[in-house]
Amino acid sequence: MFTLNRIIRSNIKRLIPYSSARHDFKGKADIFLDANENPIGSATATYMLNRYPDPLQTDVKRKIAQLKKTAANNIFLGNGSDEAIDILIRAFCNPGKDSILVMPPTYGMYEVAAQINDVGIKRVNLTAAFRLNLDKIIKAADSRTKLIFVCSPNNPTGTVISHNQIKTLLKKFNGIVVIDEAYIDFTDAPSTLQLLPEHPNLVILQTFSKAWGMAGLRVGMAFASKEIVDVMNKIKAPYNVGELSQKVILQALKNRNKVKKMVEIVKTERTKLEKEFAGFSFIKKVIPSEANFILIKTAHPDVLYNHLTEEGIVVRNRASSPLCEGGLRITVGAPEENKKLLSLFRNYERKTT
Ligand SMILES: Cc1ncc(COP(=O)(O)O)c(C=O)c1O
Repeated sequence: MFTLNRIIRSNIKRLIPYSSARHDFKGKADIFLDANENPIGSATATYMLNRYPDPLQTDVKRKIAQLKKTAANNIFLGNGSDEAIDILIRAFCNPGKDSILVMPPTYGMYEVAAQINDVGIKRVNLTAAFRLNLDKIIKAADSRTKLIFVCSPNNPTGTVISHNQIKTLLKKFNGIVVIDEAYIDFTDAPSTLQLLPEHPNLVILQTFSKAWGMAGLRVGMAFASKEIVDVMNKIKAPYNVGELSQKVILQALKNRNKVKKMVEIVKTERTKLEKEFAGFSFIKKVIPSEANFILIKTAHPDVLYNHLTEEGIVVRNRASSPLCEGGLRITVGAPEENKKLLSLFRNYERKTT
């Protein structure tokens, strides 16, 4: 059975977190002489940023909670969801002893964050149909495996893992299952947020970097039980999401229609690209995508990659990842960018056939 008490590192359990000035004082005041800020102003002409931001991002979380139909105390906000990945590993995995489990091919930061923290990595490849190999996963996880990362829609395949498989994993694994939903807005498949109330070992990651179009801002979300969120807040840097970021997110949350429109454009372009890609003889396989990128397989990925970069288009070479032989991951661009890409593909086809 899952208990948070069993998997949290004992030093984190004992930790008395840094108590920031803005955290300590809850009342109303006019003069703040508690945080060694600059009382005169900011160097920038545009923004007044001389005060530290709300360490727990209360207003932003309240709005996100409304949008996601969850409670504010089930939300952690970080400097991108990459920060949440690192914090989860630091909270639950003892360096040199514990491990995480990942399902290649998948997002590379789970492994990198584990390596930085001297945490072991167990790998169970996805099946040929890019589903979870549940039997192997359960066998591979041992009492020292604290976190399993599932990416859905998965980077770099764009494929979705079914809720049935996720529910089985949540039931059979005694550690925490992290579902990374960075690309959830591009699929009609439901979010696992609806599973949160019955699953104390579930953490869901989402981000403002993809559909919301704010990768430059660096704000990511984790949704989990209040107890897990409390642990994450305990070890984060006190002011991990800046004042400007919090303000901009509040603004963005009022523009959901714009997000919907942008997602529709990306999905239309994705369908067009998938159809066009399928017509090129040098493309052996197009993996149907539920994200904002498409994985294609080709006989000579390096040659195609170079052909594109020579003309100023960069894609991601994924050919060395398991199950991705010959694979290039191509982000769905703006309509004009996709036209250029397709014209380079036509040139390539003429040159190579
Ligand atoms: C699956 C996945 N998770 C998380 C991230 C990181 O997102 P963020 O910008 O919120 O750190 C990415 C970025 O590409 C990603 O592909």
